[in-house]
Amino acid sequence: MVEVGVSDIAIYVPPFYLSHEELAKARGVPKEKYIIGLGNQKMAVIPNWEDAVTMAANAAMQVLEKTGTDPEEIQQLVVSTESGVDHSKAVASFVQGLLKIGTRCRVYEVKHACYGGTAGLVDSIDRISRNGKTTRKGLVIMTDIAKYGFGNAGESTQGAGAVALLVEKNPRLCSVDTSLNGVFSKDVFDFWRPTGHRVPIVDGKFSIECYLMALEGAVSEFRSNLGLEQGKLLDYMDYIIYHMPFTNMARKAHRRLIEIEREGKDLETQEEIYNQTFSDKVAPGLMGVREVGNIYTGSVYMGLISLLENEREKTEGKRIGIFSYGSGCGAEFLLYNMQTKISDIIDSLHFKEQLDKRKEITFEQYTQFYSKSSEEVFYYPDEASSFKNRYTKFVFTGFKDHKRQYI
Ligand code: COA
Repeated sequence: MVEVGVSDIAIYVPPFYLSHEELAKARGVPKEKYIIGLGNQKMAVIPNWEDAVTMAANAAMQVLEKTGTDPEEIQQLVVSTESGVDHSKAVASFVQGLLKIGTRCRVYEVKHACYGGTAGLVDSIDRISRNGKTTRKGLVIMTDIAKYGFGNAGESTQGAGAVALLVEKNPRLCSVDTSLNGVFSKDVFDFWRPTGHRVPIVDGKFSIECYLMALEGAVSEFRSNLGLEQGKLLDYMDYIIYHMPFTNMARKAHRRLIEIEREGKDLETQEEIYNQTFSDKVAPGLMGVREVGNIYTGSVYMGLISLLENEREKTEGKRIGIFSYGSGCGAEFLLYNMQTKISDIIDSLHFKEQLDKRKEITFEQYTQFYSKSSEEVFYYPDEASSFKNRYTKFVFTGFKDHKRQYI
């Protein structure tokens, strides 16, 4: 059987961040709550000349350039977002225009909170598997701005960013057998944004409960699809990447997995297994969420990029378990079988480099950016061009005749 999966991957994060120390000071909260309690240090802040479209195009452009892919070769373009810019026109269509992707391409947007990107990825893998031609390529992009109300409990978990994945046969990075995937979904109100609301309504504690319930359901189906007995999953996986709205959510998720997998063991033994497996299998994927915050749909894939940059060739030939969760709720547990000889892909990620190049902003600058709506944005082309750099190739300049303008 021909393998299908991900051949390359890239991330884009906005050029600014606010430190959690600064946010805590402004909100009158002990900084330890954010830094120790949630495990976060910095949150990405998106300027008004960027949006879900520019971040998506900026991430995808890296993938096209580094793989030498002609945009005409892309036959499926899926963009997942819950930060859409229009009720009708898909973010994917804006991206198609910016990247000059041809007309013989299926282009659509997916929304299912933070899970949508995984749904789009699985659909793209399945479509390419079914198609006889080996040249078919899919581009799956996850792009989001996690923005809560000023002073809301979720504010400290904000972030922004986009991840793009190139899907094809005989993939260079990892293959995915989607028939093994364990899924879970249920109609719940844990996090939602009614039409017309600029920020979501969140039942934070309930969303954690829903997440853990979905993890349990998805893992149980995955294990049974794989024909693995309860208790064997931890040894089977070399690494696990959980959806991470904030860093310590990965701790809560891993603790729950240990409870399920080591049921009946005394608490002391469970704690020992937790500590060891967390530092070996989970911690190497945490860099992104700690430095960027929540990027919703792309979160779990930012975890994969963090893992690759941290563990490098140690990940070759390894099995990575991915748990994707989206409020509302939908979830999937899938397995990435890593290929060998992936050093050049890892060298081309440049994630740490992007993080290091960012500028720290003050709390006042953050509130200025986040108080303005996109309808109030206007930049002259010369001014907008000055915002471009090696990673920021596309910027938003405002509306003309009710149409969003990009250069
Ligand atoms: N020093 C160290 N730790 C501290 C602290 C201090 N001074 N003050 C609080 N903490 C700890 C708490 O004990 C808690 O840790 P725990 O969960 O391990 O017990 C953590 O910091 C957060 O504190 P808490 O009071 O629970 O925060 P909160 O009520 O402000 O909300 C969320 C936390 C995650 C619910 C909130 O940020 C949110 O709604 N986020 C958006 C939704 C989300 O991300 N959901 C996740 C599933 S999708």
